[in-house]
Amino acid sequence: MLVLLNSSYEELSREAARIVEGAVRSKPSVTLGLATGSTTLGMYKELGRLHREQALDFSKVATFNLDEYLGLAAEHPQSFHCFMWENFFAHVNVEPGNIHIPDGTIAGDYEEYCSAYERAIREAGGIDLQILGIGRNGHVGFNEPTSSFGSRTRLKVLTNETLEDNRRFFGAGEEMPQCAITMGIGTILEAKKILLLATGAAKAETVAEAIEGPITASVTASCLQLHPDATFVIDEAAGARLKQRDYYRRVMEMTARFTPNRLL
Ligand code: GLP
Repeated sequence: MLVLLNSSYEELSREAARIVEGAVRSKPSVTLGLATGSTTLGMYKELGRLHREQALDFSKVATFNLDEYLGLAAEHPQSFHCFMWENFFAHVNVEPGNIHIPDGTIAGDYEEYCSAYERAIREAGGIDLQILGIGRNGHVGFNEPTSSFGSRTRLKVLTNETLEDNRRFFGAGEEMPQCAITMGIGTILEAKKILLLATGAAKAETVAEAIEGPITASVTASCLQLHPDATFVIDEAAGARLKQRDYYRRVMEMTARFTPNRLL
């Protein structure tokens, strides 16, 4: 695992965008796994700028989003569909036909729908680069604590902590979805490369658990310890509880010197 410590949120956003840019430039038909959440906003903004000012071309890129709230239509302002269009797709040239986001309005055969989502990922050749945020309870996607490391795309009931964290985005009195469709940990771990972004002091404890704690389904982000090419792109505040910060800094320096490709 690589831990890239950045001095600020702006720097981590640029660093994450730089890695996505490298993936798109080296393979124009790259398949990206995308995440929502306020942490990703700076990265998406920077990718929009790279598209406008430096001709970063997404026309052959395929995307698969991690998750969507169950019960929210694409037009709902709090849906992850809306988030993705507002903050990313409207500012770059990904072909709408190449965009995949779980449908929050499906009813009935959820298992069949989720298997079809998995099939679509496989048919696209698998995910080359997966972007992740992290919930305060250590979740990736909506893989809440106790999610199996073998889990695939499925319907997941949200924990009270996640409901509390995300309620602020919904209007007063508005009912918040209790469930989501999310890629599983097994799905995520099959991506060829994974980037997890984290910012701010509120994430420091869970980031330390994910990187330096035991591998446990109680902190599903700790699954990344099992992945051969996972990178945490974090700022100083999110990394404040890491015991091995100095070591990660030395690894960053040495990696840049000896194996710079690892940073692409
Ligand atoms: C939601 C998403 C996660 C995301 C998390 C963190 O729960 N399902 O994929 O990582 O939010 O969000 P934020 O970046 O706003 O802290």
